[in-house]
Amino acid sequence: MIRLCALSDLRDPGTFELGWGEGDWPLSLFIVRRGDNVFGYVNRCPHAGHELNLMPNEFLTTDGDLILCRSHGARFRTDDGICVLGPCPGASLATFAVTVVDGDVVAERDTLDALVSRHSG
Ligand code: FES
Repeated sequence: MIRLCALSDLRDPGTFELGWGEGDWPLSLFIVRRGDNVFGYVNRCPHAGHELNLMPNEFLTTDGDLILCRSHGARFRTDDGICVLGPCPGASLATFAVTVVDGDVVAERDTLDALVSRHSG
């Protein structure tokens, strides 16, 4: 397990963006917090493959209810990454498992490395 951040680093609801992998362009990932629950996503929209955000850590709609892609406005549920509005209904963000242990958000290093292999290039 590797610590990604503290749960208290995230507003509620809120997001935390991080890069994983080697080189100048690590894979962009983000974590969504809702209460004590956390969800991990790859920062890549299933519509056209763009990163979802324009500004660091800005992934949610203003009411905090949904994840927003700022390219063409797709909106995704925060708890499973399924698109519910916009140009790719039913499509899903790529997810990865994160959990909270003693106040820290953690993930399996192998899981993150596998995401890099799957989504690089
Ligand atoms: S790339 Fe996300 S809505 Fe088009």
